[in-house]
Amino acid sequence: MQHRSWLKSSLALPLFLLSPLQAAADIHKYDKDSGLFSYVTHPEIKAPRWKVNITEPDLVTPGYWFVAPFERIDQPEPGNGWIGPHIYDGNGELVWSGVSMTENWDTIDFKMSNVRGKDMMTFLVQRTGNGLIVDNSFQLRETVDVGTLGVDFNSHEFNFIEDGTKAIVLSEGRRNATKEQALGVKYEEGECVAMFDGFKVLDTKTWKPLFEWSSFDHVALNESTFLDGPIKDLCTSPWAWDFIHLNSVDRDHNGDFYVSGRHTDTIYKVSKDDGHIMWRLHGHQKDDGEWDAKGLSFSRQHNVRFRGFNGTHEIISILDNAHGQDKQHATHDFSRGLTIALKTDVEPKTAGIVQAIDHPLGHGNYAPRRGNYQLLPNGHVFMGWSEQATQSEHTEDGKLVMQATLATEWLGTYRSYKFPFVGQPAHPPRAASAAYMSEYRNTTSTVVHVSWNGATEIASWNLYKTTESGSPMIKIFSKEKTGFETAMVWEGFAAYVIVEAVDKSGNVVGRSNIAKTLEPPEDAMSAAVAEELFWLQEISGENDGWRGKDVYVPIPAERSFSVSLLIFFFGVVCSVAAFIVVWRLRAKGYLRGVKTQRYQALADEEKLGDEEVAERPYPQRHSSRGFRDSS
Ligand SMILES: *[C@@H]1O[C@H](CO)[C@@H](O)[C@H](O)[C@H]1NC(C)=O
Ligand SMILES: *[C@@H]1O[C@H](CO)[C@@H](O)[C@H](O)[C@H]1NC(C)=O
Ligand SMILES: *[C@@H]1O[C@H](CO)[C@@H](O)[C@H](O)[C@H]1NC(C)=O
Ligand SMILES: *[C@@H]1O[C@H](CO)[C@@H](O)[C@H](O)[C@H]1NC(C)=O
Ligand SMILES: *[C@@H]1O[C@H](CO)[C@@H](O)[C@H](O)[C@H]1NC(C)=O
Repeated sequence: MQHRSWLKSSLALPLFLLSPLQAAADIHKYDKDSGLFSYVTHPEIKAPRWKVNITEPDLVTPGYWFVAPFERIDQPEPGNGWIGPHIYDGNGELVWSGVSMTENWDTIDFKMSNVRGKDMMTFLVQRTGNGLIVDNSFQLRETVDVGTLGVDFNSHEFNFIEDGTKAIVLSEGRRNATKEQALGVKYEEGECVAMFDGFKVLDTKTWKPLFEWSSFDHVALNESTFLDGPIKDLCTSPWAWDFIHLNSVDRDHNGDFYVSGRHTDTIYKVSKDDGHIMWRLHGHQKDDGEWDAKGLSFSRQHNVRFRGFNGTHEIISILDNAHGQDKQHATHDFSRGLTIALKTDVEPKTAGIVQAIDHPLGHGNYAPRRGNYQLLPNGHVFMGWSEQATQSEHTEDGKLVMQATLATEWLGTYRSYKFPFVGQPAHPPRAASAAYMSEYRNTTSTVVHVSWNGATEIASWNLYKTTESGSPMIKIFSKEKTGFETAMVWEGFAAYVIVEAVDKSGNVVGRSNIAKTLEPPEDAMSAAVAEELFWLQEISGENDGWRGKDVYVPIPAERSFSVSLLIFFFGVVCSVAAFIVVWRLRAKGYLRGVKTQRYQALADEEKLGDEEVAERPYPQRHSSRGFRDSS
C-alpha cells in the first residue's frame, strides 16, 4: 500500500466523483436497461440480450450469430457498450463484443468473408467510411478506405467475391440530374439534386477499383417509386432525392451484376462489359411482353444474391421486404425470403418463385428498411429481419427451427448472419477480484470474475492465489465456464489471483492478469485474512526458497504447533496493520458500504461495477496500428 498524505486521502473521494471522464462514462440514458448485459471484467461492454425461441433444437445448425446492433443509422453520438460488431452463440450468450474497436459507432454488414483465401471478419464503419478486416485473434489486419460519409460512402455492402480476390462496395453520388432527367419527372423549375448511387469492384490486394458503375448514366429518375411528396420537394430536399437507393450488388456466373434498387423496386442486371442494363426485373412487374412473371411480386427488396445457374435457370435469393417506411402500399402480407428462378435467354423472359420463407411472426410483420437472406452450407436459410434484430433459421424446406429477437426494443441490426467460428484472442483473459465478509459464516470470501472477450474454445477456468509478482501460483479450484463472464467464489482470502483458461481438450491456453483483490472491510478481518498476509510476508521476506517456484509445499504436520503460534502472532500484527489500511481506505471512500451478509452475485456486480472496477488499473493494450484493441 503506497503512502499518501492524509490530506490527499481526504481529497481523493470528491475529486474522483467530480472526474468529468467518469461522469461521461457513467451517464447514458440506456445504461440501466435490463435488456443489456453488464460485466465486472468489461464495464465498457453492455451487449444487448436476446429472447430466443428454439422450436426444433435437433435441427438448428451449429454456429455463431454475427450481428451489429445499432440504434440510428445517422447516429448522433456513440453508444455506451452496445453499438458495433457482436458475436453470440446459438443461445444468445455473448462471445465477442467489438464496441471498443469501432468506438461504439454504427457497423454494417458484419460477417465472415473469404479475404484472399482466408476467413476473416469484415465490416463497414459508417462514421469513418472504412472497411475493417479482423482475424480470429481479433487483431485488426486491414483498414480499407471505402469512401467518405456524406460524399461517396454508401454503407450497405462489403461483398467479397471470387475467392476473396475482389470486393464489391456501393457508392453514393449526389449530383444535379440532367435537364432531360428532370423533364422525365416533369420538373422544370431548376436543378433536381438526386442521389445517383453506384458500385465499385475493388481488387483486394491494391484496393483499386477494377470496375465502376453509376446509376447516373443508366437509370431515369422516373423509375423511382419513392415519391413521398411533390417532385419539387424531392428535387430540392437538402439531402438530395434518394430516388434509387441501391442496397446490394452480386455477380453471376458470367461476371455480370445483379443490382438491387430499393426505391425503384427493381433488380437490374448490369453488363460487366459496358455497364449497360441488360434487363430490369420490376417488383410490380406487369406481364408486358419482356417478362412472363406471373405470381411474382416484391418491393423495397434487399440482399439480392446469386445462388447458381442450373443449366437452364439463374437462381437468386432476395429479402422481399414488401413494405417500406414510405407511403407506398404493401405488396405482401408480411416480409419474406424468396428464391427466384430466372430464364433470360428466351422471349418473354420468365421469373418465378421457387420457395418463400415467411416472416416468423407472421401476418403484418415487416422488415421495413433492411435485412438479409443467408443460405447456410447445409441448405438451411438464416434470415435477418432487422427490426429488433429479429432473426430466424429455417430448414431447406422452409420449416422454422429458431427465432430470436433482441430484448432491447430500441436496437436493430442491418443484417444478421450465422457462421462456424473459432475465436482465439491474442489478448489475455481478464480477471477481477474482491473480498467479502460473510458474517453468517464468519469467514472472508474472495469473489473472482473472469472473461475472455472472443474466446470460443474455453471449457473451464483454473483459479490460483498468488503474489504481487505472480509467483508462486497455488491452485485453489477449477470451475466450468458459465457464459461470457464466470464468477468464482472461494471461501477464503487471496490477496492476488490469476485465472487460467482451459480449453475443451484440457489444455491451458491462456492466463489472466494478476488481479489484486480489493481488500475486505475492517469487520471482515477473519483468520483467513491474517493467514494470507502471513503467507505473503513469508514469500517476500524470510524464505527465499519460495521465489520463482510455482509449487505449493504444504506445511509438515509436526511443525503445525509452532506454525500456529507464528500465525497467531503474525495474525495479531497483521490484523492491526490491516485495520489501519482498511480504515484509511474507508476514509478514501473505496469501501463505502461494502458489507455483505452472504454472496449475492448481482448485487455484488453492481458494487464492483461502480467502485472497484472503475479504480482497478487494467493494463491498456494497443494493437500495432494504434487501434484500441477489444480486450
Ligand atoms: C416460439 O415459436 C413458436 C413457433 O413460432 C410459437 O408457437 C411460440 O409461441 C413461441 N414461443 C414463445 C415463448 O414466443
Ligand atoms: C447543381 O447546380 C447548381 C446550380 O447550377 C450548382 O450551384 C450546384 O453546385 C450543383 N450541385 C451539384 C451537387 O453539382
Ligand atoms: C422517363 O425519363 C426519361 C428521361 O430520363 C425519358 O426518356 C422517358 O421518356 C421517361 N419515361 C416516362 C414514362 O415518362
Ligand atoms: C433449374 O431450376 C428451375 C427452377 O427450380 C427448374 O424449373 C429447372 O427444371 C431446373 N433446370 C434443370 C436443368 O435442372
Ligand atoms: C470468528 O472467527 C474468529 C477466528 O476465526 C473467532 O475468534 C471469533 O470468535 C469468530 N466469531 C464468531 C462470531 O463466531
